[in-house]
Amino acid sequence: MKRSCSIQAPAKINLHLQVGDRRADGFHDLESIVLSLAFGDTLRFELDEAGAGTPDGGITMIGAPAGACGPIPADQNSIARALALFKARTGFDKPLRICLYKRIPLGGGLGGGSSDAASTLLALDALAGTRLSREVLASMAASLGSDVPFFLTGGAAWVRGRGEVIEPLPMPGPYWILLVNPGFPSGTGEAFDSLDAFRSASQEPKDGGKGAPRGDLLRALAGSPDSWPYRNDFLPVFLQTGARERREAYRRMLADLAALGAAFQGLSGAGSTCFGVFTQKGAAAAAVHGLAERWMFARVTFFLARSAHAVVQYD
Ligand code: C5P
Repeated sequence: MKRSCSIQAPAKINLHLQVGDRRADGFHDLESIVLSLAFGDTLRFELDEAGAGTPDGGITMIGAPAGACGPIPADQNSIARALALFKARTGFDKPLRICLYKRIPLGGGLGGGSSDAASTLLALDALAGTRLSREVLASMAASLGSDVPFFLTGGAAWVRGRGEVIEPLPMPGPYWILLVNPGFPSGTGEAFDSLDAFRSASQEPKDGGKGAPRGDLLRALAGSPDSWPYRNDFLPVFLQTGARERREAYRRMLADLAALGAAFQGLSGAGSTCFGVFTQKGAAAAAVHGLAERWMFARVTFFLARSAHAVVQYD
């Protein structure tokens, strides 16, 4: 048995996010174009035969963007939840030391917690030699959260259902992606509640309206970002409701990205990170300097095609 391994946990953006009506189970049906990024967290798992390290399930977080370092409570952590599920399903019971190099802003709509959970399942499957099937991993991932199944494969995908129906797409680009985070988190559950309230209060159709047909949305991926028809249904909610400083922050992030030469700009997930798509690397690299001075977090990256099983690295 291998004794330790590391795995990347990439961030994602939603290029397009259409939210349907709330379902009987409390979730909303989604239609989304999701892309993984060459930027993310790193997780390291070590078997601790002597059991002398951190208590079982204890996770040390290093380099958190919000400055929160050190041990984090197990019940608040997607890695600990993935570990508990893996143990329950497989009987794996070896003590572990886990180290998380946190780079993805928390509550930023970039899928950090979900990606950490998916990478935990993949790394534990490799370390324990359990060789779980794709179907079993996918059902475990779906029970950990709506965004988790996407991260088992990553790349570019058309995502439906509550997030668990995933169809691979050809990767667009090459483009450079500039991420900007305003320094405040956005809670997913609260964002969906605000969206429902916004739709009830306005004349908006409950499902946000049909928008462009799926075929047009997918064809547009191969076209220029200048004319992408993509939208995020949370954006009008965040621009028109809530505290004035927050509304202003979303408006300014998008205006900054457009002014600095983004060919397309939008909101990722249920906030709070905005992104710009650049066709020239130089323009993205120049833009990040200005944005890093104005916002808590600004970073240039690119879309990442990956097969997650291939990126588990043993020492
Ligand atoms: O699945 P996850 O834990 O990420 O979802 C957090 C919350 O976001 C859910 O409890 C639900 O209120 C909301 N949600 C939703 N529809 C989705 C995904 C999440 O309403 N498709």
